[in-house]
Amino acid sequence: MELKKIWQERSALVEEQLVKELNEANPLDKTLCESMKYSLMAGGKRLRPVLLMAAADAVGAKGTDYLTTGCAMEMIHTYSLIHDDLPAMDDDDYRRGKLTNHKVYGAGMATLAGDALLTLAFEVMLRQQGVSAEKLVQVVREISTAAGPDGMVGGQALDMESEDKQISMETMKNIHLGKTGALFRAAIRSGAILGGASEEALQALTVYADNFGLAFQITDDILDVIGDEQVIGKPVGSDEKNHKSTYVTLTSLEEAQKLAQEAVDTAIDALKIFGEEADFLRELVAFLVKRNK
Ligand code: IPE
Ligand code: IPE
Ligand code: MG
Ligand code: MG
Ligand code: MG
Repeated sequence: MELKKIWQERSALVEEQLVKELNEANPLDKTLCESMKYSLMAGGKRLRPVLLMAAADAVGAKGTDYLTTGCAMEMIHTYSLIHDDLPAMDDDDYRRGKLTNHKVYGAGMATLAGDALLTLAFEVMLRQQGVSAEKLVQVVREISTAAGPDGMVGGQALDMESEDKQISMETMKNIHLGKTGALFRAAIRSGAILGGASEEALQALTVYADNFGLAFQITDDILDVIGDEQVIGKPVGSDEKNHKSTYVTLTSLEEAQKLAQEAVDTAIDALKIFGEEADFLRELVAFLVKRNK
């Protein structure tokens, strides 16, 4: 299948580049260096960099030119996972098929590995070649807003405070759009901006991104219930253990699947202004809700 082939090829490029970017840094502490590498190179679907490149392709640019910015996004995402798994948060033991960072290096070092990946990401972003300073500033602003209190971290805080509580569907949606949607939105918008998107294309891709994020996190909630631990590489039942509200607990498995599919349809519809150059994005979001990991 074409989708899987492109996805695999681009993931391989991301992994190769991640090693290069990491090797450019000279952490003062050897254990810190190891623990950053441990989580960053543990695999993962590499969706955010793959989406960033695909958005650039969709607007007629060459996605692989922006591998560096994609790697920076993967660093931010990996940091978010390390912190999400900490005992003070979801307290999970497995991630990407391996023991979580804190299980191997301890909570203190895992916290620092996350901090280090987040800050290194901003250094890496500034290594992006072939783009004007003005565009780069725009992209750095996009990514920093998405990663912070208005985005991923804000969503994680809302998620944490909603444990043991009955929350509304609207709050649930905001949690999903924050904790998960924001980084997808930044990845896609950054790829589009770097690729020179028109305002119309950027708006269309933003609608796609938000619905992608929603469909993705609803499916993540579903996999937390019916997934296979060996395949998803992280524990099943983490949400129930932490008394989290999810799309599944607020509705039902069937209803959650339906809502995810609706988000997919909206995402695909948003791409109608594009031709076949956006086929990868169309196929990827459709595949998402059928994924088993
Ligand atoms: C997991 O993200 C955390 C969520 C935002 C749901 P991914 O499912 O993209 O994790 P990896 O990168 O493939 O490990
Ligand atoms: C967390 O959502 C998303 C982020 C890490 C920002 P989850 O807690 O549902 O993610 P998983 O299921 O542990 O990957
Ligand atoms: Mg969580
Ligand atoms: Mg979690
Ligand atoms: Mg989850």
